[in-house]
Amino acid sequence: MHLGVNIDHVATLRQARYATMLDSHNTEPSVLAAARAALEGGADSITLHVREDRRHMQDADALAVRREIPLPLNLEMGATAAMLEFALQLKPDYVCLVPERREEITTEGGLSVAGHEAELRPLVAALQANGSKVSMFIDPDSEQVRASAAIGAAMIELHTGRFANTLGEERKAETARLIAAAELGHSLGLEVHAGHGIQVSNLAELNDVPHLTELNIGHTIISRAIFVGLTAAVQEMKSAIAQYKW
Ligand code: PXP
Repeated sequence: MHLGVNIDHVATLRQARYATMLDSHNTEPSVLAAARAALEGGADSITLHVREDRRHMQDADALAVRREIPLPLNLEMGATAAMLEFALQLKPDYVCLVPERREEITTEGGLSVAGHEAELRPLVAALQANGSKVSMFIDPDSEQVRASAAIGAAMIELHTGRFANTLGEERKAETARLIAAAELGHSLGLEVHAGHGIQVSNLAELNDVPHLTELNIGHTIISRAIFVGLTAAVQEMKSAIAQYKW
């Protein structure tokens, strides 16, 4: 099981103070230093979300991480022509297409692939021809899994937000949906990842979900890093996910 470390919150913190003075001699914290710390802690890849409005990560952050950090880079982006242009220039190892606007979101929060195949297929083809394997961030829903396979994506990332935010019977039902989606994705030849809201406290239940090869985790790692440092926080998560039995 690989760990993709999402360091968006490092940029969020920097922008909170320095959005209008990024070139200041005071600007901190450094996204590049965070990526290095994650590398030292055992991250298998670095994930960055460059948003259309550049509210957190900047193009320069992604380009610097690409240039300086010897780990696969996973760029999360909205499915737009402008973002495609940036991704073609950046050439990340992976691109994860995520919803940014309301109309791109399915009921529970993943990208609505089903019904948008005609727009998404050429985008996926262009990215993959440029050397970036493409993942679709989708709800654990059979229609979305089938649509992702149909448009030629290599991977899906199952949205675990609902799983993370519920308990009891609701959590059980959502785990069952994750299991079904992972099985279907695997049977269709897709690599299956998962992400959003994953914490040490809910990892054990993800053990029931088969075929996961990567988890993308951000918020809890950065939160823990406040107390133990980022390298240690990544190390802790790496040892926690080593329990995954599939
Ligand atoms: N995967 C995707 C596609 C995301 O957009 C995010 C950030 O919301 C994550 C994983 C990581 O989620 P979290 O920060 O809750 O760990």
